[in-house]
Amino acid sequence: MLRNSVREFPAVAPLPSRPHEAPILAASGIDQRFIVKGRTTTVFDAFDFAVEEGSFVSIVGPSGCGKSTLLKLMAGLESASGGEILFKGKRVDQPPKGVIYVFQQYNKSIFPWRTVLENVGFGLEHQDGLSRASRREQCQEYIRLVGLEGYESYYPSQLSGGMQQRVAIARALVCKPDVLMMDEPFSAVDALTRATLQQLVLKIWQSLPVTVVFVTHDVDEAVYLSSRVVSLGRAPAHIVDDVRIALPYPRDAVRTRSDARYIAARERLLSRILAAETACPVDAKPERAEQPA
Ligand SMILES: Nc1ncnc2c1ncn2[C@@H]1O[C@H](COP(=O)(O)OP(=O)(O)OP(=O)(O)O)[C@@H](O)[C@H]1O
Ligand SMILES: [Mg+2]
Repeated sequence: MLRNSVREFPAVAPLPSRPHEAPILAASGIDQRFIVKGRTTTVFDAFDFAVEEGSFVSIVGPSGCGKSTLLKLMAGLESASGGEILFKGKRVDQPPKGVIYVFQQYNKSIFPWRTVLENVGFGLEHQDGLSRASRREQCQEYIRLVGLEGYESYYPSQLSGGMQQRVAIARALVCKPDVLMMDEPFSAVDALTRATLQQLVLKIWQSLPVTVVFVTHDVDEAVYLSSRVVSLGRAPAHIVDDVRIALPYPRDAVRTRSDARYIAARERLLSRILAAETACPVDAKPERAEQPA
């Protein structure tokens, strides 16, 4: 499995210009422009990005730089104005079966009128040839994996925010995605719940053959979780930094954060983000304002 090679990076270092594993997802020359009331915002202009199979890639960057837009384009939830997205070498023009997107607001991902078991089972409802018993068994497996055993008959309103997010994760995983995309999945939960969800996502990534693309504002979270961190600058989005994280797995919530490699990666990313923001502050964002024809 590719997973092992992803974990054996020798040091925190810039990525080579060509990734050494085949990309499972690749954005090539993408343009994305939004026109609102005659103003054009160029979010991407001939932007290239690739995600190696089996990796855990985090994307960090300032608010509004295009992180969510990039995820939605790669998940086939939005169409680019130009360029192409390839998933396993095939052009993406609708959400591909192997890519699942978990929303930041978990209440967008799960149905309040369904129990935990029914919510998780939703992912399997459109799969033909599965018996009721096998469907239930698969749901139970992922409910166990996310630590919600015993809560199968609970409704989302009877669960904490962290538990609801676990339901959303189990529902995504039951479809056995090749790529799990998570857009700031833990921003709405408290610090302790966040730490346990981080451990959960790492456990999932280590035990399943899944590639994770994770958006966060939090550089510490990105370094802690990832095999690679990509930092985006804004307007139009561009790669400010792209580093492999040399820390071994499994990672430890306390020890990993005091590791010299963790500190070095964090310092490097933060200093480059701050330098990029100083060079292009939000007020001076080079957004083109055009009048409609
Ligand atoms: N559907 C849309 N219509 C118009 N503009 C949009 C649309 N979606 C995104 N944008 C614009 O694209 C830019 C990037 O938005 P995006 O949501 O990708 O940023 P982000 O990096 O995810 O920000 P945040 O960290 O705040 O979530 C913003 O300027 C936003 O206003
Ligand atoms: Mg966003």
